Formats: sequence, structure tokens, C-alpha cells
Amino acid sequence: MTATKGLEGIVATTSSISSIIDGVLTYRGYNIDDLAINATFEEVIYLLWFGRLPLQSELDQLLSELSAASTIPPQVIEQIRLYPKDTNTMAALRSAVSALALYDETANDMTPEANTQKAIKLQAQLPTIVAALSRIRSGLEPIAPKSGVTIAHNFLYMLNGEEPSDLAVQALNQALVLHADHELNASTFAARVTVATLSDIYSGVTSAIGALKGPLHGGANEAVMVMLEEIGSFDQVEDFIQTKLDNREKIMGFGHRVYKNGDPRAKHLQKMSQDLSQLQGNSELYEMSVRIEEMVTGQKGLKPNVDFYSASVYTILGIPRELFTLIFAISRVSGWTAHILEQYENNRIIRPRAEYTGLTNQKYVPIQNR
Ligand code: ACO
Repeated sequence: MTATKGLEGIVATTSSISSIIDGVLTYRGYNIDDLAINATFEEVIYLLWFGRLPLQSELDQLLSELSAASTIPPQVIEQIRLYPKDTNTMAALRSAVSALALYDETANDMTPEANTQKAIKLQAQLPTIVAALSRIRSGLEPIAPKSGVTIAHNFLYMLNGEEPSDLAVQALNQALVLHADHELNASTFAARVTVATLSDIYSGVTSAIGALKGPLHGGANEAVMVMLEEIGSFDQVEDFIQTKLDNREKIMGFGHRVYKNGDPRAKHLQKMSQDLSQLQGNSELYEMSVRIEEMVTGQKGLKPNVDFYSASVYTILGIPRELFTLIFAISRVSGWTAHILEQYENNRIIRPRAEYTGLTNQKYVPIQNR
């Protein structure tokens, strides 16, 4: 038995949800470029869960179910109030999502209907949790979700307490579409491993949030912003990045296990970053990002991934950087739950082997003789 480090190239399951073939990302056979330009996030959620694009009546139905499920239990709000104000926001999200299960009497109901309903609740409640978390950390009262608006609109409304601009809603909608699913990424794999033991959907999503938190995965978008803040201004980019490259340090937001010729999502976020910067009349973050890309791609051949330009996009939208990875979760929960439902449909426990590299033939020595 020989191990493959990081399971690179290992095909661990079948799935009909999303694919990356020859560097092209599709959800249920639809190219991400097509969906990014044309689809709403809610249409994509329907597509991921039910395998096809919805009719208008089906979309309306999903919107009203999401709206109806978006209020979180008051006990969860009370718990969030007790979290340390400076705690890691992904740790807080992981705890709050885990707590949702405690107040859902269907949490352990494993029928497909109950699991679909719980997928709707998780998708509807994550944005409410993230907005509440952010406001409570800033000493503000959480704002209840409103009905009849999209997830992107509702999230910005609950976060800022005012109606968002159409442009902000449109930009966030597109970011949510781009992050919704991504084949067998680390957090989705974590979710599938968890529920393959026939554990519940909340356990699966909690595992996924834990995996997404790391800087090699979803945590990279926040790490990109930390780097941009550390650099400070356009004229500092060259020295900062050159030093990192010379020291062979990792530059966050670059590289990918599967895409070696570029992440197809990155160009959409780059364009969004450029367009929003122009409208805002301040392009410094965008220009810094472009210069970083020129240097990293030029010298290392590494291309930006989905996280790189999302950092400047979210900053321009006025979203605090400690929420960046949580926005990723608000989107990816659609994919996690689609994969969880698919895993339940055709389940077998996921239990690989390890290549043993430890000592052998050890003999127990009584503690007083060691
Ligand atoms: N900056 C500098 N060098 C890099 C980077 C980077 N961002 N990414 C990879 N490399 C280098 C590695 O050091 C390695 O060089 P070596 O062969 O000389 O040792 C080579 O490129 C191959 O990289 P691996 O780390 O082996 O690639 P792997 O497939 O294991 O990791 C990963 C992929 C985790 C995305 C990696 O590129 C990385 O750490 N990037 C930065 C973090 C990041 O942006 N993560 C988000 C990924 S997208 C997502 O999850 C949403």
C-alpha cells in the first residue's frame, strides 16, 4: 500500500453535481461562465439540489421556502452573544451552525424529505447567522431577515441595516454563484466523509465549515486581504512580493490543486473588482492585485484562484475582512448540502487506508522500567 500525498489525483467518489474537466468548471453540465453571467444564486441552489434549472413557479416556491426558514432560533442568537467578541469568526460560525441542530427536532430524521428541508434551513439560516455574528461583534443588535428578497439582498440588508444598492446585490449574487460548488474540494469531502457514517446533515455542514476555515482552502480570501493591508500601497507591492518570492513563501490566493492553467472563476472576480473600483473612483486595491498577479504569474507561473480577487471585491462592497470566509460558506453550503443529499442516496462509509510508516515489533515495557 503506497499513499498519495494529499490524495492528489485520487478519484474518491462518483458525483453528478459539478465537474472540473480539462480546466472547465460546470454545475450539472452548465458552464460556470454561463451561470456567472446569467443565473441568480437561488437558481443555482435549485440546480445543485434538484439537478435542473427551475421553472419560474419552482423558483418562487424555493424563494418563499428559503424566506420562511431564514429566522434562526433565539437560543442561537443568545449563544452568539456569549462568544468572545474577538474570537475567530469561522470558529464562531462553526459553533453556531452546530448549535442549530440542538433546536431542530428533525435533526436526526434521516428521511430524504426531512434532509431536503434541513438543506433549505441551513441555506436560509447561514446568512442570518453571519449577519447576526457580525453585528453582535460590533455591539449592534441583529436585524431580522426580510421576506421576498434574494439571499444576496437579505444578507447585505441584515449586515448593514439598510437597503443595499442594486450593484452590490448583483456583485454579491455573482460571487455566491461562483463559489457554490466545486467538485470534491476539501470541505465538501469532509462533509461527505462525515455523513457517510450516517451522521446527520448538521454534522456534515459543521465538518465542512471546519475544513473551509483553513488558509489553504476558504481561509485564503481573508489571508489575501491581510496581505494587501500589510502591503499598504501600490508602491510597496514590488518589494513585498519580491521578498516573499525570494524566500519561497506562499502567496495567498494563488495556485490550485486541480487548475494548473488558471481558475475559471478568477476572471469573473477580477472583472468585478475592476468594475467596482472604477465606479468607486478608487482603483488602488485592484491595481495592487493586478501587479501582484503579474509578479507571481510571471515568476512562478502560478495563477490566481477564486480567493484572490474576491478579497478586493468584498472590501469594495464594504464587507469586513473577517467575514470573507463566512461569505464563502454562505455560498458553498448549497454545494455541501447537495453533496450530502447525494451521499445519502447511494451511501457507503468512507474509510480509506493509511500506509504505515511507524515502528514495528515494539514490546511493552512497564512504566517503572522505561
Ligand atoms: N505561493 C507560492 N508558491 C506556491 C503557491 C503559492 N500560493 N501555491 C503553490 N506553490 C508552490 C509550492 O510551494 C510548490 O512548490 P515546490 O514544488 O517548489 O515545493 C508547488 O507550487 C506546488 O504546490 P503544492 O503546495 O504542492 O500544491 P497543492 O496542490 O498541494 O496545494 C494549494 C494547492 C493549497 C491551493 C496551494 O497552491 C496553496 O497553498 N495556495 C495558497 C493558498 C490558497 O490560495 N488557497 C485557496 C485555494 S482555492 C480554494 O480552496 C477556494
